[in-house]
Parts: sequence; structure tokens; C-alpha cells
Amino acid sequence: MHNDVEKVLISTEELKRRIAELGKQISTEYAGKEILMIGVLRGAVLFMADLARAIELHVSMDFMAVSSYGAGTTSSGVVRILKDLDESIEGRHVLVVEDIIDSGLTLNYLLDNLRSRKPASIKLCTLLNKPERRKVEVNIDYNGFDVPDYFVVGYGLDYAERYRNLPYIGILKPEVYQGDE
Ligand code: PRP
Repeated sequence: MHNDVEKVLISTEELKRRIAELGKQISTEYAGKEILMIGVLRGAVLFMADLARAIELHVSMDFMAVSSYGAGTTSSGVVRILKDLDESIEGRHVLVVEDIIDSGLTLNYLLDNLRSRKPASIKLCTLLNKPERRKVEVNIDYNGFDVPDYFVVGYGLDYAERYRNLPYIGILKPEVYQGDE
């Protein structure tokens, strides 16, 4: 275990098992269709790479990057698109892939934005969900794990851009971020 991690919340094995289950469920429910996975940079990259390999259908991938509403911007839920999709999603079966849904503000905005582009369908898949922190309702179609309101890192999730490469979800030691909050 990494020195800055207090506890492993979700092990590599648990991640593997749950992602295999999600892949099976998605493969069954989308049978006969082609999926366009849209990853929200940067946290979703690791999850998306493993989830895609657990889906036994044709899958395309595209990515978006959005600015955080935090850090002195707004809490209205309006987020800025830093990198838009490369392709049109009109008529496509879109599966938005996230690492974590927290307040719900980012995804609430993003899903509305994507819906206006007339996809054939749009669903949301998140690895982690923090229901305690929700500010706006978000309908999650596929959820890996509900997690308590701890500072979690690893498997795509960062603190100051570090720890994304940990192969598990861990709880960060408070002394690592103390004074920064
Ligand atoms: C995280 C996560 C979501 C958003 C969720 O991204 O990937 O996009 O925050 O929070 P919300 O439900 O409160 O809107 P972050 O801004 O940390 O960027 P990153 O993926 O590049 O780490």
C-alpha cells in the first residue's frame, strides 16, 4: 500500500470483479447495438479502459474535458467545456463514463448538453458514487460502488494530480491534504 494511503477502500480484485459484472450487464442490455463511450477526462480514463475490455460489443470512444465549477467559479452547475467531442453523437447510443459522481453538478450539466445533440440514447456509468454529497439529482444507470464521504484516490482519482495510477481505491491520509482545504 502507498505510504500516503490510510486504508484500501476497494481492492484491485473487487474493482476487477465489479467491472466484469458491469461489462456483462452492459453487453446484455445493449445487445445488437454499437456503443459510443464518452469518457470525462481525466479521472475516467483508467475505468473506461478496463470497462471497454469487459464489453463484448462494438465500442467506439471519445472524450470530453470540462472545467470544475469549484475553485472560485460558480456553484450554479455551469461547467466550461475545455475539450469537446471529436465526433457527432446524433443517432448514437452514448454511454457516458465517469470515475465519481459527487455533487452531481458536472454530470447534470454535461448530460443536458449531450442530450441536446440528439443521441439515439444516453446512459451514465460511474465507478463510484458519493450519495451524501449530492446537490442535484443525477440518474445513474450503472454504478460500480457507493462510497462514503472520504477523500478517495487511485484508479483514476487524484489529489493534486497524484495517485491516479494506484491500482485500487484508497482513502488518503488527512495529513497529505491538511492545510490545503
Ligand atoms: C471529478 C469527476 C467528475 C466530477 C464529479 O472530476 O471526474 O467529473 O469531479 O464531481 P461532481 O459530481 O461534484 O460534479 P475532477 O474535476 O476532479 O477532474 P479529473 O477527472 O480531471 O480529476
